[in-house]
Amino acid sequence: MSFFVHKSAFSLFSFLLALAGVCSGGSDAPRGVAVGFVFDLKAKCDPPCEHGGVCIRNNTCFCSKGYEGETCQYANCFPKCKNGGACLRPGKCRCLPGYGGRYCHKVTCAGGCWNGGECTAVNGVAKCICPSSWTGSKCQDAICPQGCRNGGNCVSPGICSCPEGWVGGACHTAVCSQTCLNGGKCISPNKCRCRPPFSGPRCEERKKSH
Ligand SMILES: *[C@@H]1O[C@H](CO)[C@@H](O)[C@H](O)[C@H]1NC(C)=O
Repeated sequence: MSFFVHKSAFSLFSFLLALAGVCSGGSDAPRGVAVGFVFDLKAKCDPPCEHGGVCIRNNTCFCSKGYEGETCQYANCFPKCKNGGACLRPGKCRCLPGYGGRYCHKVTCAGGCWNGGECTAVNGVAKCICPSSWTGSKCQDAICPQGCRNGGNCVSPGICSCPEGWVGGACHTAVCSQTCLNGGKCISPNKCRCRPPFSGPRCEERKKSH
């Protein structure tokens, strides 16, 4: 019985030729066997065939679909993995950081982009491009153009969350629980600045002049 095979370059074509050889050879091999494992049953492949490859002849592997190489060690990905991705198994790429999608053809931003940000490759690096009122690596920080003063936090675009005792768009207005009297001004929480000649917590006292 003869085989038309080349070590390490065993193609489907030669596989079929070999089958034809088996079927017409008049050997003792069983006929009509479904797939070509009528090859050398004692064949040894060392190192062994990987990924479901079949050892059909000494040191010759017949690889399953999607694999290639002498011991079927390499997976084939079609389309090929893009952007430096590695083919893990047929049709499955492992992507480098910053890339995603079935073929690593999409950029991904670690942690995603929030608030309508868009992940885009900028000079090969994945970055979130934020809408105008958001900033930060994930567009997680709102922008308050007016600023948030006195310990206020910008919680959404243009909106400050103010600490107790402060109000206003920029947390710039102090609150005095009791109104400052006689033209006094509330300058920080519960603190009045009085106009002369007034004094006291609420500017309620008139200083006596001697
Ligand atoms: C395959 O290798 C074994 C030893 O490893 C040897 O005995 C056998 O004859 C070889 N078969 C062929 C077809 O060369």
